[in-house]
Amino acid sequence: MADNKVKSAIVVGATSGIGRGLAELLVAAGYQVGITGRRKELLEEIRQQHSDAIFWRCMDVCEAETARDTFASLVAEMGSVDLVVISSGTGTINSELAWEPEARTIATNVTGFAAIASAAMKLFIGQGHGHLVGISSVGALRGSREAPAYNASKAFVSNYLEGLRVKAVKTGLPIYVTDILPGFVDTPMAQGEGLFWVASVQKAAEQIMTAINRKKRRAYITRRWRLIAWLMTFMPDFIYERM
Ligand SMILES: NC(=O)c1ccc[n+]([C@@H]2O[C@H](COP(=O)([O-])OP(=O)(O)OC[C@H]3O[C@@H](n4cnc5c(N)ncnc54)[C@H](OP(=O)(O)O)[C@@H]3O)[C@@H](O)[C@H]2O)c1
Repeated sequence: MADNKVKSAIVVGATSGIGRGLAELLVAAGYQVGITGRRKELLEEIRQQHSDAIFWRCMDVCEAETARDTFASLVAEMGSVDLVVISSGTGTINSELAWEPEARTIATNVTGFAAIASAAMKLFIGQGHGHLVGISSVGALRGSREAPAYNASKAFVSNYLEGLRVKAVKTGLPIYVTDILPGFVDTPMAQGEGLFWVASVQKAAEQIMTAINRKKRRAYITRRWRLIAWLMTFMPDFIYERM
């Protein structure tokens, strides 16, 4: 018998960029979508565009306890949630090693990410199904001299997701975990010189949707970034240090 139940998803960090693009694709695919971010006016704007399909909450993932409570209240309003995408993230070039950007990056991408990812996994184990998607980065694969906290925080994201995936497999339940590793995507976050193979938000969101539908363990966005990932993984230290 066909399953006619409306699917529901939460996208954390949906006010701009990849998260917003994905939220819009999910609405187009028939999902009810809960969206979060700090900018209330943008959440309301998206809600107005898509009316009944959208639920929203203001959420700052750096306020971890409050963010988890907010996540729970959004789940309660939506009923059940099949898919949670964590796209919230920050990062900046920090050549001078100023502390504020390092601390903000760690609070958002590490503590904030783990706060929501762990809450989502507990939800999925409790309800017996679900799919967690985290937006990491190809930067997760090696350290960065220009943005050390950013790359290290994304290594945490990918590693944390792997831990949750192993945990999910052990449960024997239909719970899936997907690690998304974008290269460059044309969003407010992607600034600076030397960017290449920059994907549009639309293209990135479409490829992420394909990875979600296929329940992939990990996906490079766009697909050609798999080549860079391979080079980064196997490049000897003495070459990487001189780049
Ligand atoms: N663009 C790229 O080239 C690229 C490459 C690799 C990985 N990524 C990753 O992709 C994800 C999305 O980034 P993007 O490129 O789409 O950038 P973006 O357009 O700047 O979007 C970032 C999103 O994260 C939310 N956010 C940031 N800090 C937050 C906080 N403290 N609490 C709650 N939400 C917060 C923002 O919402 P509010 O400001 O409204 O809170 C916004 O919706 C990030 O995790 C990023 O690291 C991006």
